[in-house]
Amino acid sequence: MKVAIFGVDGQLGRAVAATLAGAHAVIPIARASADVRDAEAVAAAVRRAAPDWVVNSAAMTHVDRCETEPLAAFEVNAVGAYHVARAAAESGARLMHVSTDYVFDGRKPTPYTEDDVARPLNAYGVSKLAGEWFVQSASDTNVIVRSSGLYGLYKCSGKGSSFAETILSRARQGQPLRVVSDERLTPTFTEDLAAQMRLMIESAVPPGVYHATNAGSCSWYDFALELLRLAGVNGSIAPIPASEWKSPTRRPANSVLENRALAALGLDRMPEWRDALARYVAALAKTPS
Ligand SMILES: NC(=O)c1ccc[n+]([C@@H]2O[C@H](COP(=O)([O-])OP(=O)(O)OC[C@H]3O[C@@H](n4cnc5c(N)ncnc54)[C@H](OP(=O)(O)O)[C@@H]3O)[C@@H](O)[C@H]2O)c1
Repeated sequence: MKVAIFGVDGQLGRAVAATLAGAHAVIPIARASADVRDAEAVAAAVRRAAPDWVVNSAAMTHVDRCETEPLAAFEVNAVGAYHVARAAAESGARLMHVSTDYVFDGRKPTPYTEDDVARPLNAYGVSKLAGEWFVQSASDTNVIVRSSGLYGLYKCSGKGSSFAETILSRARQGQPLRVVSDERLTPTFTEDLAAQMRLMIESAVPPGVYHATNAGSCSWYDFALELLRLAGVNGSIAPIPASEWKSPTRRPANSVLENRALAALGLDRMPEWRDALARYVAALAKTPS
């Protein structure tokens, strides 16, 4: 199959491209060749690629920046997604659009399923939910994949470094860490999500919304502790409530997702978060710094 990828220089986009390469023809569409805010450029790039699938991993991902620059967030995460979805529809390609756990408000005490009502607490979540609606409005064949707390082997383009990288580097420098302990989520390894997305493409999944995170859940604090343990790094981490974390952005207290739609199709291949983190730490150890 031919798969065109927007956001191909981001941490997830690069993992998806690497996972598909070899078995499929990957057509990277970097921001420099088509900014998703530019409808014409996006349409021309997709026409040239003539893909079977388009993956849209392009987004403004810096959550605090989205809060202070909501118009910019909308231009990329909502209108940009619409441009990609329109271009895919016009070229007869299916779209797999990546979205977020932050579409939920976190008030539910149990994991969110695809049927739960989205009600974002912040501008990033609102812009991503608007993006989902645009994607659904453009075609009946599109797929939306919501994930959570991504970390991986490639740099997060929008944030500079992921939570995992920040924790490791600060602990190695001997800096004391304060990490939020009252927000639950499922941090997700980009390699696992990319493999799951590849399986979904190869299985020609039915259109709709799919949750796809690693299994289980933890707080940011639990995640940081486990990361340092696995990496063999001594560090001092203090748990703090989210209210003590300086940020302009409200975040959901619970954004754990249940991969119910994938499980119903027998396609949920996402390993447990600790297993994923152990593979991440092992892969980092093999990467020359
Ligand atoms: N990071 C997370 O924790 C997280 C959690 C849940 C869901 N998600 C979703 O997962 C997807 C991938 O996120 P990620 O972590 O891989 O983010 P990332 O590393 O910041 O990558 C985002 C990509 O989007 C591109 N991009 C930004 N603005 C663009 C524009 N105007 N036109 C074209 N491309 C543009 C960036 O290009 P440049 O490289 O040129 O800047 C980059 O390649 C996003 O949809 C995000 O909302 C992320």
